[in-house]
Amino acid sequence: MVVFRKSAELSDYLHIKRSEGNSIGFVPTMGALHKGHISLVEASKKRGLITVCSIFVNPTQFNDKSDLAKYPVTTEADLELLLGAGCDVVFLPDEKEVYPQGAENTPVYDFGSLEAVLEGAMRPGHFRGVGQVVGRLLEIVQPQALFLGRKDYQQCLVIADLVKQMHLATEVVRCDTRREPDGLAMSSRNRRLTEPQRTVAGLIYQCLVSIQSKNGATPFAIVQKECDDILRKKGFEPEYIALANADTLSPLANYDAAQPMVALIAARIGDTRLIDNIAVV
Ligand code: PAF
Repeated sequence: MVVFRKSAELSDYLHIKRSEGNSIGFVPTMGALHKGHISLVEASKKRGLITVCSIFVNPTQFNDKSDLAKYPVTTEADLELLLGAGCDVVFLPDEKEVYPQGAENTPVYDFGSLEAVLEGAMRPGHFRGVGQVVGRLLEIVQPQALFLGRKDYQQCLVIADLVKQMHLATEVVRCDTRREPDGLAMSSRNRRLTEPQRTVAGLIYQCLVSIQSKNGATPFAIVQKECDDILRKKGFEPEYIALANADTLSPLANYDAAQPMVALIAARIGDTRLIDNIAVV
């Protein structure tokens, strides 16, 4: 496994690899890696791609600066996990390498209605920051395929839109969410949960499963209220419990068999904000 800290050195290295007939798979991360990230590296390796994983905690996507300050940094452990997964290349840039002209002089993209709802509405500017950093990383890495986790469903749609806006041929591969035995979606934020919080955290997924299973049988507003009650009783503060068109994220007031559907939840417990989603079929 080779580790690069400089964008130019990584670009040169990947240029040589490409000229030798290899294709590149890319897993962008902010570190604090877990099995979910590792499954993305494995998906890329399975396709025979030279697999690059970046670790960069991007300040421009944090609308809440205290969230940025709390973001776990576990670089040594991350490198060990990546080595174990057979990752070929790790990119560990600092802010100057990612934004050599300064973030304020680096292009941002407009994702229209896709960034106005759900996470975009709760975290203003977040997807502009995600688009900005992934845009830069794509310029540097130029991957054939980009591997993302479905847990960040809206992010997957935003990045697919970014790839279109940048006129790239990069394939955006959405990989299944990895879960703990009680259903909790794996996330770097889970390590912030206290033991009692962790005990109830699987309820978010259980609510999503109940939204999925009541499709066509119970009006969504009723299921939504049930989930809200269940979560509040256990100490969560739900930010949204939503049903949306799975392609556009336009909100749906009720189940609609004529549209692809996704159910999404964001809820706070203590200082930690958790998100998850499920396809509703
Ligand atoms: O999902 C993440 O970890 C980040 O949003 C990403 C895609 C690495 C961009 O900073």
